[in-house]
Amino acid sequence: MDPFLPNSVSTAAILLFCLLPLAAPFTVIPSDSGLIDAPQNGQRSRARTDAREQEAVLDVMRATGNAWAAGIVDVCRGRWHGIECMPDRDDVYHVVSLSFGVLSDDTAFPTCDPARPYISPSVTKLPHLRTLFFYRCFTHNPQPIPAFLGRLGSTLQTLVLRENGHVGPIPSEIGNLTRLRVLDLHNNNLNGSIPGSLGRVAGLTSLDLSGNRLTGSMPGFGFPSLRVLDLNQNLLTGSIPSTLGTCLSLIKIDLNHNHLIGPIPESINHLRDLILLDLSYNHLSGPFPESLKDMTSLEALILKGNPMESVTIPNDWFAGMNVLTILVLSNMNLHGPIPESLGRLPSLLVLHLDRNRLNGSIPETFQNLRSIAELRLNDNRLTGPIPFGREMIWRMRRKLRLYNNSGLCYDGGSGFEDGSGIGSCDAAAARSGSARTVQHTSEGNDGDMTRKVQASSSVEARHRFLLVLPQFLIASIVFIPLLS
Ligand SMILES: *[C@@H]1O[C@H](CO)[C@@H](O)[C@H](O)[C@H]1NC(C)=O
Ligand SMILES: *[C@@H]1O[C@H](CO)[C@@H](O)[C@H](O)[C@H]1NC(C)=O
Ligand SMILES: *[C@@H]1O[C@H](CO)[C@@H](O)[C@H](O)[C@H]1NC(C)=O
Ligand SMILES: *[C@@H]1O[C@H](CO)[C@@H](O)[C@H](O)[C@H]1NC(C)=O
Repeated sequence: MDPFLPNSVSTAAILLFCLLPLAAPFTVIPSDSGLIDAPQNGQRSRARTDAREQEAVLDVMRATGNAWAAGIVDVCRGRWHGIECMPDRDDVYHVVSLSFGVLSDDTAFPTCDPARPYISPSVTKLPHLRTLFFYRCFTHNPQPIPAFLGRLGSTLQTLVLRENGHVGPIPSEIGNLTRLRVLDLHNNNLNGSIPGSLGRVAGLTSLDLSGNRLTGSMPGFGFPSLRVLDLNQNLLTGSIPSTLGTCLSLIKIDLNHNHLIGPIPESINHLRDLILLDLSYNHLSGPFPESLKDMTSLEALILKGNPMESVTIPNDWFAGMNVLTILVLSNMNLHGPIPESLGRLPSLLVLHLDRNRLNGSIPETFQNLRSIAELRLNDNRLTGPIPFGREMIWRMRRKLRLYNNSGLCYDGGSGFEDGSGIGSCDAAAARSGSARTVQHTSEGNDGDMTRKVQASSSVEARHRFLLVLPQFLIASIVFIPLLS
């Protein structure tokens, strides 16, 4: 571990960046045998920058359209944003970090000129470079990720090329960066497959290749230190490799919106530190892993939009998940009953089981979901009385969705108003004895009501959920490593 920053702080910094890219500057400057962990940038009066590195920095600046930098006498003196240096024992400054792009109003690294910016090969003349960061730099001059970055292998620890418009494949030379901890290529137009050479980068703690057009299957990597794996919004095929279960440091796995098939590997249960698992919008099939009972840190499980072949929710699946806060199993072709054990999840805030073929009644245990704020059971085949009372119904209001079930009813005094689209159990009992035609008419009316409610609230609710979700996760994912 690096002595310069306590591990928990650097981890939190990385996570903060991954989850909240625009809110915080991102600099991790660990120590190096040759360099001194002294205050940087002009604090040591006699120190001067290595002449070759000075030239290399000016090349890199020029290539990004920052030709003005030629007027800087010493790039390591004067606290230039985006340039960080450290002195060695002979009072020579070395460049350890270069950053470009406006992250926020507070954190403005040099911008890239939109005309014809590119990454200068002179970056390879910076033998102490640990961080290379380009954000929204080459968007107007689409170019591949240069293979020469592979020559920074002996020092580079953080490579961020985020929202840069890069095209073509991820060069296999990236696998030469064996000291890399953070690789972030989020939101480019990269295609081709994930290079197998990446497996050589054994110390990765954060891998974000999300928002590209990557094809092929997920390589069977085992990264013992990997904490964040983001491959969402790509075109990945094949099944989820069971080696994922050997990446025991994982706290976040996000593979949503790909074309992954096959079952969720049983080995996932080994990930005791996992906080977020999002596998939504793939083509995953059942059965569910036999047990998730060891995933005691899991706070969010999101599997919606995987239309599995007639799968039932195992009754004891959630035993031990004491911190599960968000459970989203919508539109998965689930059938059979809602397990009673769901009502015993003490931390549940959001539960979506909508658009399935669940039948039977809502378990009585749902009365125990004291903190639930959003419950969707709509578009199923549920029957019988709604087991929770006025207080819970009022608390959730429109975030409670029960419409389009075959036979839900409310007990008198439960708090449902006329207009909920759901009748009282007394009336339902009376109706079941009456003529078929009457029943048919009343169902037709319910359908109209359903469509109106659905149309008015679904867009708003979807936006709200998108906003709510990151807040929960940021709070938990950032603070848990800090406290532990
Ligand atoms: C990558 O490393 C291999 C040896 O491991 C070396 O032959 C090759 O030249 C390196 N490529 C780059 C681009 O650094
Ligand atoms: C990647 O995209 C480029 C166009 O940007 C195309 O020429 C190339 O064939 C694509 N490669 C793969 C593997 O899809
Ligand atoms: C639920 O549906 C299944 C068939 O999918 C059926 O066997 C079972 O009896 C139903 N249960 C209830 C309570 O209606
Ligand atoms: C009601 O839900 C079922 C799924 O259980 C769905 O197939 C049907 O289209 C829904 N009806 C309406 C009116 O949305």
